[in-house]
Amino acid sequence: MTKKKSEISRRQFLSSSACAALGVAGNSLLKSGPLWGAQAENKRKVALVGTGIRGSGTWGKALLENYGDVLEMVGLCDINPKRLEYAKKYMGAECPTFVDFKKMIESTKPDTIIVTTTDCFHSKYICLAMEMGCDVITEKPLATDENLCQNILDAEKRTGKNLIVTFNYRYSPEAIKIKEILMSKEIGEVTSVDFNYYLDIYHGASYFRRWHGFKQFSGSLLVHKATHHYDLMNWWLAAEPVEVNAYGELRKYGHNGNFRSGQCRDCPHKGKCEFFWDITRNEHLMKLYVNAESADGYIRDACVFRKRINIWDTMNVQVQYHNRVTMSYSLNAFMPYEGYFVGFNGTKGRLDARVYHSQPWKTESMADFRITQNFGKTKTFGLTSEGGGHWGADRVMQDRIFRKPGEDLLGQGAGSRDGALSILIGIAARRSIEQERPFKVEELVKI
Ligand SMILES: NC(=O)c1ccc[n+]([C@@H]2O[C@H](COP(=O)([O-])OP(=O)(O)OC[C@H]3O[C@@H](n4cnc5c(N)ncnc54)[C@H](O)[C@@H]3O)[C@@H](O)[C@H]2O)c1
Repeated sequence: MTKKKSEISRRQFLSSSACAALGVAGNSLLKSGPLWGAQAENKRKVALVGTGIRGSGTWGKALLENYGDVLEMVGLCDINPKRLEYAKKYMGAECPTFVDFKKMIESTKPDTIIVTTTDCFHSKYICLAMEMGCDVITEKPLATDENLCQNILDAEKRTGKNLIVTFNYRYSPEAIKIKEILMSKEIGEVTSVDFNYYLDIYHGASYFRRWHGFKQFSGSLLVHKATHHYDLMNWWLAAEPVEVNAYGELRKYGHNGNFRSGQCRDCPHKGKCEFFWDITRNEHLMKLYVNAESADGYIRDACVFRKRINIWDTMNVQVQYHNRVTMSYSLNAFMPYEGYFVGFNGTKGRLDARVYHSQPWKTESMADFRITQNFGKTKTFGLTSEGGGHWGADRVMQDRIFRKPGEDLLGQGAGSRDGALSILIGIAARRSIEQERPFKVEELVKI
């Protein structure tokens, strides 16, 4: 297989239809800034679709506990009425519940919809909400394929509504430190990046137990998970991706298992399976998922060795950006520890960051940094975590969205363009693997 090197200049890229659809390069602030601030006289009316673990927790219970003074939850929607009822109780919400999304908007008239469904349905609800006059806050990934992405960009343009994509990783302490170092130009202009992301045998495996294991639902981990990483890189570099080349393999999960079953709970192999996971030990998960199984057949502890699993667990991606920066990225989903290594090669030196999310050994810091000048000195330092959801990032991001605490100096707020540019790397990578050729981002999304 021969893959042709892309030679595309910044000017060519800016004139391309994809770029025209997505706007100019650089970090975009939200079109009209955060939705509302602490000074809001009237509470903002919010409704949520997708009452799973993320919807009922971060965007449900935590939202009501922390921002009840500026917002009111007016409706909850999910296709599973049993999960919906439990989630409502768990959140402490007092609003009506719906299985029909349109009916929820018609009868509760929310200002803002929060989308936390299975990934492949984000686009449907984002578009419907905007068409029905609502602003939208959506969980990542923005969408799972190029057509769904295009639908969102078109709907936003048509309706003029505001869309926020909740890239919480931008608010983690180490991500902010990296952004600040790059902006200071301490290592000069970045020319290339090495970025290796590791999901461990617990968190990585969790994706293979659920809908994430199927491209049709998650777009693969190159979209579902890597959208975070691509967004970080686009934001860190203030650059737009132009061309993507990728390889992907399924080496551990799915058809690779020597035995399999439907789900862990009643598995005859539980005594010998290294991925056996006992959901019955978690009361909240039992109520949220197992007690609701009869309504939609969603099995939360499904077998990681199901033969139908069609995503990759071993992925390598090369990305070329509009400013000639190149990135080598890898994502592996069965590692003994979790976190990432990132190295920025600059014209004046190199920045290395090693970020630990979980590992079997004790570490003082959550991230270790090294900055080395060409022909000069090297310095090291560590960072510690604030604690809380996603290293404290969820709360900081929600404060930024709901309380508007001043200017967004680092450009952390993310809109549709940021959401699109990050998934488009993953979608291009998926297409590259499937069709065994490099993919230009402009091939995927047109006006
Ligand atoms: N930013 C983050 O760090 C982060 C963390 C976790 C999850 N997420 C995102 O949050 C979303 C939800 O993830 P989760 O882990 O809670 O998944 P989940 O499976 O627990 O919840 C998904 C919910 O969507 C519902 N649903 C499925 N199809 C639907 C449809 N057509 N209409 C309405 N509801 C439907 C399901 O019944 C379920 O309640 C995903 O998009 C995921 O990417 C983001």
